[in-house]
Amino acid sequence: MAEKKCTVPFQGTAEQEAELMQVISELKEEKGSLMPIMQRAQDIYGYLPIEVQTMISDATGHPLEEIYGISTFYSMFNLNPKGKYKVSVCLGTACYVKGSGDIYERLKKELDIDGGECTADGKFSLDACRCVGACGLAPVLMINDEVFGRLTADEVPEILKKFN
Ligand code: FES
Repeated sequence: MAEKKCTVPFQGTAEQEAELMQVISELKEEKGSLMPIMQRAQDIYGYLPIEVQTMISDATGHPLEEIYGISTFYSMFNLNPKGKYKVSVCLGTACYVKGSGDIYERLKKELDIDGGECTADGKFSLDACRCVGACGLAPVLMINDEVFGRLTADEVPEILKKFN
């Protein structure tokens, strides 16, 4: 089990920064370009940590508060890095009525993180998702591309062990 919440330090490279600055210089004069810049930044870094938000703020002149507000409002932006194993629990209706909420809670407990976070060792990240089209297997959990269905919360530790 991971010891604490996501504390994976930001490790951007000079190449990534140069790519981001290139994107910003191409787009920044265009109206409404902040969101596209943020999306491209997330593509470059894999997520949008505060360090990257600060770079965008400095280079575009948009206040950091505005960038932070957008990145927390829209679910497409990740403020935390994703783990090597991306755990997603389906909270769609069919899964939810069959107990996926309990599975989600159990995962939070076992991994000692909240939804949207990743473990300190960078191994697991946890997210909730909508219907993944496998309602017949409800409740469903995915780890990267692997689907686990008809689960109970008590099966969670055993499944996680397979990825250790
Ligand atoms: S609601 Fe979970 S797979 Fe459809």
